Amino acid sequence: MQTAGTSLKQRALRKLVRQAHHPRGIAGWAIGWMFAHRPSNRKRNIWAVSLLDVQPTDRVLEIGFGPGVAIAELARRATRGHVFGIDHSQAMVRQAARRNAAAVRVHLTHASVEQLPSFGDPLDAILAVNSVGFWPDPVERLRELRRLLRPAGRIALVSQPRCPGATRDTTTRAAQELQDMLTEAGFTRLRVETLELDPPVACVLATNPTGLPS
Ligand SMILES: C[S@@+](CC[C@H](N)C(=O)[O-])C[C@H]1O[C@@H](n2cnc3c(N)ncnc32)[C@H](O)[C@@H]1O
Repeated sequence: MQTAGTSLKQRALRKLVRQAHHPRGIAGWAIGWMFAHRPSNRKRNIWAVSLLDVQPTDRVLEIGFGPGVAIAELARRATRGHVFGIDHSQAMVRQAARRNAAAVRVHLTHASVEQLPSFGDPLDAILAVNSVGFWPDPVERLRELRRLLRPAGRIALVSQPRCPGATRDTTTRAAQELQDMLTEAGFTRLRVETLELDPPVACVLATNPTGLPS
């Protein structure tokens, strides 16, 4: 039987998921602040960037950057390259822009992954942290992203499930889904790394094989 307490909890949870999907208004600003300061969020973003092997001249794109923690870390590494970011939340674009105000070569755009802007020359690497689960038709989105990468360009998709009761198994299933989507979208050389947080974080890395000898 559903009690008033459980339905209240469910409503609060639905609101939280809506805000995580598209942070808006004061609640959106607060959730962005939480994303930026929660130690596990910071750790998973910094860890994800470390796995992407960003070189000083790289041109890197992050989708769904939220408050911009990974953008700052990417900018610290791509010192002579360019760091692009898109997020469909105006509130997150503002927070991330403030966090990265001093970084030259960082270009943050208010845009959705389903309507990608142009980034000019091919990209070396793409990152998305806890964002793919919100994308419409993710396999099609990943195909479009693969076309933006240079041959042998890298992608890293990260998932730390935040649903109530999430466990190691939830993370394992999320990693498998990401691998299946990347394979369907034409990526190869898949590799999964895990960060031991609670719940664990999975990062699936893959390569754009276009133009490479098979
Ligand atoms: C759960 S938050 C994660 C933020 C950040 N990557 C992190 O790990 O702290 C998801 C982010 O993806 C963004 N997002 C969700 N769907 C999107 C879409 N279709 N296009 C662009 N951004 C999207 C949201 O606005 C939000 O900032």
